[in-house]
Formats: sequence, C-alpha cells, structure tokens
Amino acid sequence: MIKNKEAYYSVLEDIPKRHVFVTVGKGGVGKTTVSILLSLVLSERGKTLLASLDPAKHLLEYLGIPKVLKEVEVKSNLKIIQYDIDPLAKRVSSEYATLLKQVVPGLMILSLEDLVNAIRHAPGFEEEIFLRILENLYNRKDIDYIVIDTPPTGITHRIFNLPRLYMFWLEKLFELRSKIVSLRYSIAKSMGEKVEERDPVLSRLENLRERYRTLYNNIKDTRRTSIFIVTTPEPLPVYEAEESVKFFNQIGAHVRAIVINKILPEDVAKKLGISESQKENLEKALSISCNKCRKLFIRHHSKTPRSLEEAKELINLTELTG
Ligand SMILES: Nc1ncnc2c1ncn2[C@@H]1O[C@H](COP(=O)(O)OP(=O)(O)OP(=O)(O)O)[C@@H](O)[C@H]1O
Ligand SMILES: [Mg+2]
Repeated sequence: MIKNKEAYYSVLEDIPKRHVFVTVGKGGVGKTTVSILLSLVLSERGKTLLASLDPAKHLLEYLGIPKVLKEVEVKSNLKIIQYDIDPLAKRVSSEYATLLKQVVPGLMILSLEDLVNAIRHAPGFEEEIFLRILENLYNRKDIDYIVIDTPPTGITHRIFNLPRLYMFWLEKLFELRSKIVSLRYSIAKSMGEKVEERDPVLSRLENLRERYRTLYNNIKDTRRTSIFIVTTPEPLPVYEAEESVKFFNQIGAHVRAIVINKILPEDVAKKLGISESQKENLEKALSISCNKCRKLFIRHHSKTPRSLEEAKELINLTELTG
C-alpha cells in the first residue's frame, strides 16, 4: 500500500511542467483541501500557483488571509490567488458593449451603461469570465504547476463545456459572415466601388475561434491538464463524482484521480451508525470506471484543518488504492 506523501508522488509521477490541475466535486467534499494538498506537494517540485475560482473565497478563509487582490507567496515556491469576478466582469462587459455598438449600429439607441448592464447579467456571462481566467492561466510561462480550486460542479462543467460550444457557434458565425463579406465584395466590385480588404468582424471571429480552439486543445491534452474528482463516501457526492467523470470523459479531458475524502475510522462510523453506508459508498466510488485513473483515500481528521500547516497533516492520512 502506497501511503502519505508517496501516494501523491505516485499519482503525480511523470507530469510535465506547465500543467494545470483542476479539482472538481460537490460542495463541502474537500475540493479546497485537496487543492491545498496538491499544491503543497507540487511546490516541492516547482513553482506552483494555487488559484481559486470559487466565488465563496473559502481558500482565503482557510489560510487566514483577509483579502488577496494579487498573487501572494504563502511559502517558498507556492503562490495563491483568489479571483474576484466582479471587477473582471465590469471590464469585459464594457469591452463587449463598445464592440457591439460598433458592429450593430442599431444599438446606438441604448446608452453604453444600459448595454454594459445587459451584457453583465446575460446568461453564461460569468462562465465567460471564468473562461478568460482559465485561458490566462494556461498561458502562464512563469509557473510550473497550477492548481485550480473550482466553484460547485454544475458551474465548473458549464465552464469546461464552453470552448467546445463556442467553437461550434463561431464556426457557423464565421461561415455566415464570410458569405456576407463575399456578397458585399461582389456588389461593391460590380459597382466599381472601393473594396475593404479586411472585414473587422471576420478577423474578430477568426481570433475568437483560434483562442477557443487552443483552450479546448489544452483542456484535452493529458500533458497539460489533469482533473481530480473529489468525493466523500456519501451517496450524493459519489453520484456527482460519477457524473463528473462521465462529463470529463465526454469532453475528452483526463481524469487523473478520484479522491475519496473524509473516510471515518471504522469504530467512529459504527458509533454513528453509518458504517454500512460508508462501506457501500466507498465501494461505489471505487468502482467508478475512469480510464486509467487512480483512487486516493484521505481519512477523516479528528480536527478540522484551519491553516496550511494543519492541512499538511492530511497528507499523512492519505493512501493510494490498487
Ligand atoms: N479529511 C478531512 N478531515 C477533516 N476535515 C476535513 C477533511 N477534508 C476537508 N475537511 C474540512 O471539511 C470542510 C470542507 O472542506 P473544503 O472547504 O475543502 O471543501 P470544498 O469542497 O472546497 O467546499 P466548498 O464547496 O464549500 O468550496 C472544511 O472545513 C475542511 O477543513
Ligand atoms: Mg472550496
């Protein structure tokens, strides 16, 4: 049985630098905790950034840091950052509003402020912001390992599904715009008018298509991305873990490990009357089929970890199964 730090070394073996780890799971199962543990181990090997996309900001609470607007070094080789969606959303929505006003002159009747507001609250807009953060993280050349602590599963799935969806839409929009441009070209030419060489909308669409293609390829690349699904030995988290494995398989991302966290010692589980249910759910979690993924157990700590140092203790409660 491989235990403690060795268990992490074994799962993280052969992972090249410039790798992004994403922890996913139901609320409260230990995503933030596992992100911290992974970051601690990875920081022994290279420059590591622990990035929290979770708007609940639990990471900062965990580490006893009141507010982080920039990256902070919490120990040698380990930086953390908590993303704040609001200021980013404001910036991106005004960028889009300005672009829309240029492309759709009919929108002139709306004030820029109204347009910014409409975009800011449009469905899917927040996911788009997360996507931009993700894109920036993948582009970081100064960091060896990035661990992303995510918001609840549903939002995470939507974010990771977007590049594929956007590519599909952009392909159609690109075709449509190309037809318009070529028609415009023919008409202008036949009327002897000057023809614009480059269509700004087409360039923009081309640029977006390229960006999402790169992002999607990075997500699917096993050398660049590993998903860690976190669960506890309870029915709903295990169900969600199973669904999550299916989802990531479907988009082609590599689930490297399923982490089964907060496993109670047998005597405690018995006392609480949940021994049978824990066993059953452990088995269920162990039987989740995921292409060559590893399964890690983390036992329940008698005291809730409240700092980086205390979280470290959980490394010694970890085992690799199989
Ligand atoms: N193995 C463990 N033993 C004891 N306590 C644990 C263990 N793992 C996590 N915890 C505690 O359980 C609580 C939830 O963990 P954590 O915040 O990591 O979960 P999460 O999935 O990130 O939650 P959220 O969905 O709210 O972000 C925390 O108080 C954490 O310290
Ligand atoms: Mg969390």
